[in-house]
Amino acid sequence: MICPSPHADPAASRIATDDGSVAGSSGEQYEARLIDLPTIDSQTPDAIGAITVLEAPPFEIKRIYWIHGAGAGEMRGHHAHRTLCQILVAVSGAFEIKAVTDTEEIRFTLDTPRRGLLLGPGLWRTICALKENSVLMVAASATFNEADYIRDFDAFLDFRKDLREMRRNIGGIDQR
Ligand code: TYD
Repeated sequence: MICPSPHADPAASRIATDDGSVAGSSGEQYEARLIDLPTIDSQTPDAIGAITVLEAPPFEIKRIYWIHGAGAGEMRGHHAHRTLCQILVAVSGAFEIKAVTDTEEIRFTLDTPRRGLLLGPGLWRTICALKENSVLMVAASATFNEADYIRDFDAFLDFRKDLREMRRNIGGIDQR
């Protein structure tokens, strides 16, 4: 399944590895990383399946929602958040998530309920279902607030530029 890439230079595109946060080609860091979630597999013949736990995440969860009913290859997202942090889990099926900065695009595949994707603010994202009837659960750090969305890609690029300037102005203490 190939999910289209509406933004970002494909030359800058790369596939995320399983280790921690990623640094952009500019050396800039941002929060987009896979997290292995603790899973308890059934040890006895009479217990079924497994239990996966999202416990003590790096932000307080104020909202949980789930995306379902999408056909394979159908996309959502196409926006960024100013402040929202999220953890995405493919509780069923599989999704490809693209996290885009102003310089590159990182592709994540979520195809197991045993793993989550932490997405910090300031990342343009697209979400593509790779299989029919996949379900993506999203734990978010705030209740729904339309004002937190950036839905226009040019406005997103301006936001990233402002962010970089602001960080430069505070003395390069935090280069993220
Ligand atoms: P949105 O987050 O824009 O999803 P996508 O970018 O994947 O299409 O949400 C779609 C609509 O649902 C939008 O009108 C806002 C509404 N919505 C809520 O009311 N509450 C929520 O918690 C979410 C996630 C969306």
